[in-house]
Amino acid sequence: MKVETVDTALNPFAKDTLLGLSAQPKFLYSKYMYDDMGSRLFQQIMQMPEYYLTDCEYEILDQQTKEIQHTFSGNGQEFDLIELGAGDGLKTKVLMTHFLEQHAKFKYIPIDISEKATRELVTSLENQFPELAVEERVGDYFQMIRELNKVDFNRKIILFLGSNIGNYDDQQCHDFFQDLADVMNKNDMLFIGFDLKKDPAVIMQAYNDPHGYTRRFNLNHLLRINRELDGNFDLENFIHHETYNPVDGVAKSHLLSTCEHTVTLNALQRQFHFKQYEPIVMEMSRKYDLETIHRLATLNGFRVVKNFFDKRRYFVDSVWQLNS
Ligand code: TRP
Repeated sequence: MKVETVDTALNPFAKDTLLGLSAQPKFLYSKYMYDDMGSRLFQQIMQMPEYYLTDCEYEILDQQTKEIQHTFSGNGQEFDLIELGAGDGLKTKVLMTHFLEQHAKFKYIPIDISEKATRELVTSLENQFPELAVEERVGDYFQMIRELNKVDFNRKIILFLGSNIGNYDDQQCHDFFQDLADVMNKNDMLFIGFDLKKDPAVIMQAYNDPHGYTRRFNLNHLLRINRELDGNFDLENFIHHETYNPVDGVAKSHLLSTCEHTVTLNALQRQFHFKQYEPIVMEMSRKYDLETIHRLATLNGFRVVKNFFDKRRYFVDSVWQLNS
């Protein structure tokens, strides 16, 4: 039996990279794409006119704020606005501007695993909204909510914006909703973004790299591997390939090795062989229909309270509550 001596001491990034590149087909976990450089490249993707997702959700949060506020706090009751993976908080600021104008009683609690991102967000919030109550938390989403539950009994509105949920596979998605159901009370609400199924041409314009940013974003993951795992990926050997399958609604981003070659990752003491045109699956981004969203809610013990659509019906922010 071959004993895996290197494995036990590896950090999560090393472990996951080893797992992904040893799999058939090869894959990498897209969560590792968002290092400092990756976050900047993702900002560029979000700013492309073709990347409709940002505009759609911004429109919802900008133009339906009254109804959203009514849903969160119809009788003016106090609530906690908890944002999972707040990032730069740009979209949430639009919502909070309105809430503050309306003198809504709420606290903003951004939760993020990145201490740096959280600190930057808090500083910018303090400048922009001196009157806003902010209680940032750095760490695991569910751990942080559990701690909050012990000391804070306001209604919790949990925001999970963007199409983050679409980047999870079925198991991760199931685990996410189960963990949420565990930490939420009957009165709490989940406000979650889903990208909807639409003309595949529209999706391909957003994902099939009209300006070359997506290729660079993906290649940056290989650079991170080279840097952190002492690897020798040659970026010249990879092209980007996007697919969209209208049956399951999955857009997939791949890097393809244009030639047969071998890559060495010294930190893993491993070599990985690439056949010509062998893919690495870099990320998947799922698009939903309303039936699937309802089924997901029901399967996980929730019900859909309300759906907020943008004008083109490209995107939905769905409000869920626990069933019993
Ligand atoms: N994950 C985001 C999304 O689903 C951003 C994204 C767009 C992305 N294109 C990508 C991530 C390609 C990795 C690779 O929309």
